[in-house]
Parts: sequence; C-alpha cells; structure tokens
Amino acid sequence: MAKIAVMGYGTIGSGVVEALSMNQKSIQAKTEEEVSVKYVLDLRDFPGDPIQEKIVHDYQVIAQDPEISVVVETMGGVEPANTFAMAMLKAGKSVVTSNKALVAEYGAELMETARENSCNFFFEASVGGGIPIIRPLYTCLTPDVVTEIAGILNGTTNYILTEMSQKGVSFEEALKEAQALGYAERDPSADVEGHDACRKIAILSSVAMGRKVVFTDIHTEGITHVTTEDFAYAKELGMSIKLLGISKMADGAMESIVAPFLIRADHPLYSVQDVFNAVMVTGNVVDQLMFFGRGAGKLPTAAAVVADVIEAVKLKDVSEALPWSKEVLTPDDYRSYESRFMVRLPESMDEKLYQELFRPQKVLKGIVAGELAVITESMTEAQYLEAAKKAGNVIGSTRLY
Ligand code: HSE
Repeated sequence: MAKIAVMGYGTIGSGVVEALSMNQKSIQAKTEEEVSVKYVLDLRDFPGDPIQEKIVHDYQVIAQDPEISVVVETMGGVEPANTFAMAMLKAGKSVVTSNKALVAEYGAELMETARENSCNFFFEASVGGGIPIIRPLYTCLTPDVVTEIAGILNGTTNYILTEMSQKGVSFEEALKEAQALGYAERDPSADVEGHDACRKIAILSSVAMGRKVVFTDIHTEGITHVTTEDFAYAKELGMSIKLLGISKMADGAMESIVAPFLIRADHPLYSVQDVFNAVMVTGNVVDQLMFFGRGAGKLPTAAAVVADVIEAVKLKDVSEALPWSKEVLTPDDYRSYESRFMVRLPESMDEKLYQELFRPQKVLKGIVAGELAVITESMTEAQYLEAAKKAGNVIGSTRLY
C-alpha cells in the first residue's frame, strides 16, 4: 500500500482526497497497489468531518514518517510551501504540487533536490488545471524541438473576455460577473494583470527549453485596458480578443510575451470560451498540437494532481529525468517581438501621417464615433513604440496573433 499525505485541505486538496476515493479501484489497478491518504496537513480542524482523524498541524509529522512516499502540496503561495516541499524531498518523499507560484519561483531547485534524493517533483496541475501538458512536453515531444508555445492560460480572464465579446459588456461588468460566479478572486489583480498567465508560460517555457525562465523577465500586459470599442473593431475584423501567453523559440533563444491579442475566427484558440484553457505547441517535427480542457476547478485540477501521484507511486525511488536546469534563460528584449497591430487613432488625424507611420494594410472607419483604426504591417515592438510616439495621440492598440 502506498501511503500519501496532502498538505492543504482547500478546494484542490479536498478534490484530491475526493478523486482518490471516487476512483480507488481503477487507481489501484494502475499503480498495482492501494493508494491511501494517511495525513492531511492544515492549520484548521474539521470537527464532524471524517477527514479530521487524518488532520495534522505540524509538517514534520509527515516528513519524519517513513511510511509516507508521496506528498501532495495544495497549499498555494511560495512560503511555507517551498520550505515544506523541500523538507519532504530531502526526506526522500516525492512531492506533487498544483502551485504555480511555487513552481515558477523554485521549480528548478525543487527538481534538483528531488534528483539528489532519488524521488520526484511533479507539477502537472500547476499549468492548465486538468489539461495534461507538462508531461506530454517532456515525454511525448521528445523527437521535437519546440518552436512555439501559445496558450490561453487563465480561465478568469478568458471568461471575462468571452463575456465582453459575446454580450458586449464592459470589462468592469464582466469582472463583477466573474467574481459573483466565484471565478475571480476579490482581489483579481493576479489574473487580470496577466501575472498568473505569465507564471504559467514561464513554467511551460522552462520545461520546453530545459532551462529556468524567470517569470519577471517576461513582458506582461493584462486585460484591464481592453474596452468594448476594441471588441467592436474585433467583430468588424471577424476576430476576438484573447489573453495569450506566447513563447517563440529558435536556436536556443526565446522571445516571450503575455498580452491580449486579436485572434482570427479560423484559429483553433478562437473557439476556446469561458473558463476553458488551451495550449498550442508547435514542434519542428510534429507541427502543431493543441491541448484543451478545464484550466481550473476542484476536480479537473485534482485529476492532474492524482495523475502525478500515480506516476510517483509507480516510479518509487526512480527519479524521472525532467530537463529543467537552474541555468537561467533570459528571453530576448520584448521590443524585438514582431506582430501586426490594430492602432486606434482620432478620426481627425492626418491621413498622410498615419499612412507614413503605420503603413496600414487596412483602415477601419465608422466603427467607433470620432476615431479610425489601422491594421499595421508586421513590425517590432520598438518600431511600433516609435511610430506611436510620433503619432502622439494613439487611443489604444492591440496586437494581432
Ligand atoms: N486563477 C486561475 C485561473 C486559477 O483563473 O485560471 C487556475 O490557475
């Protein structure tokens, strides 16, 4: 029998306990031994709940119990999750986490510690909730050199943008709705400012590139400045607006960006609605792959955690070689990132000037009172910033994917 512990009995932690019990028999068939939860670490007590008999308040109880082989970390946040996870790995126990903040900050170090102690550090649930994406990246795409990862990596913002697109509501109204439905936190900044998606594309890029991508090195813009007028133009263009995390790789270098992008209706990411996530991976052998599913939520996220638990139980003291070293890969300066832009300008702007600055392939007039929009040729961020500075009175701009 494999005995495991769960640290953090919140939404995901309780989902893990539920999923393990719901599918006990089929899980046992896969691991060839019963997987049983011996401890649940939480600050709280749960009187009257059957889980109470497993509750412990001191992580050392778990670290010092030789019966425990796998520890699930679903507490969230960087500390004390990192201290606890490190202690478990040093005690030779595999750690499985859903915590993207922990993985983005200390993933490489935790993996190294796992290797040194003949155990594993797995984090499938830290990106894309229930979508299997981490393991496919390092076990299925082995013949490939990954050239691009582009994903809708945050369910809250995808819900907000879907509402804005389909119902024509403002960002503020859509956010309120997302909060009422429990998708967005009371302080929604990590989601709407793009920080959550940034950590996730940093994790995916690290796994794909085998080096540590520091999330603060990635240029990140959120969706707070996306307006109903932007969606009016998107509709006219037959497009939608999605918050994308994108990394493009070539010759060991990488450019990365997180920002709202206009996306055409025939692109597979266009139809990813509401709280769903999707990740498109391009390899130089396999070409394009798309992974789609629920990017958050109790049971979908628990499914990814339990998949890692099963893998860790099967591997026992064999450390799976996951290519992610501590060597830092700094993305190229984002100002060299190339895209086309939709630039909104005052209607009164001199045509010669905007033609010269933006060389538009298309000019949209009469969509929003008092303004026009141009669709530029492909240009670097640096070129765009220079042109926008010269124009002086840009109302707004959105990149095209
Ligand atoms: N806040 C995140 C989201 C939860 O909305 O996608 C899952 O990481």
